[in-house]
Amino acid sequence: MKVLNLYFSSTGNTVKVAHKIDEAIRETGHQVETIRITPNTEVDILPYDCVFLGSGVYEWLPGEAVIRLLTKLRRQYADGGEIKPTAPRRSGKKAIVYCTYGGCHTGVNEAIPTTKYMAQLFDHLGYDVVAEWHLIGEYHGKLAKLSTIGRLGDIQGRPNDADLREVAEKVKGIIQV
Ligand SMILES: Cc1cc2nc3c(=O)[nH]c(=O)nc-3n(C[C@H](O)[C@H](O)[C@H](O)COP(=O)(O)O)c2cc1C
Repeated sequence: MKVLNLYFSSTGNTVKVAHKIDEAIRETGHQVETIRITPNTEVDILPYDCVFLGSGVYEWLPGEAVIRLLTKLRRQYADGGEIKPTAPRRSGKKAIVYCTYGGCHTGVNEAIPTTKYMAQLFDHLGYDVVAEWHLIGEYHGKLAKLSTIGRLGDIQGRPNDADLREVAEKVKGIIQV
């Protein structure tokens, strides 16, 4: 199985999850290509059987570099005839989208738009979106105080070791099927 592990991380939380995904996939004996998304990232996802895409949540949505990449790919695949009306399924292709989020104001409802947004490219291409994960990620820098006064309580240190262990278990569950 060819696995692609794409992620964007601005303050260091999502990258921890992406590295854990990379490690867990390798432990299953599969190969994985892990790519940090930047404003200049060019990638063709269609050759991959399984794609992970993760981002932090910033104002309810993925990072700008992720939005730009998804927009570019949608146009490219639509122009190339790969996105078809009714979005027919591509047998065996699967995607996992996830985010890390602070949820200070409205909890997980701040994270759901991000994963729904990211899932759409894959759904349009006929990939089976087998999981949408919303992982808690502490606020850093100027926003750090929000890590103790928000809707989710004290989220300092998240994602923590237990969060990352759970990610690894779920990855193995998906990859080994
Ligand atoms: C500029 C900025 C905006 C953010 N906006 C939101 C938000 O709207 N909703 C939310 O739940 N978390 C928000 N967060 C918290 C981040 O989503 C969370 O800390 C996430 O884990 C960051 O991922 P990263 O460290 O990989 O960049 C924001 C953080 C920053 C820095």
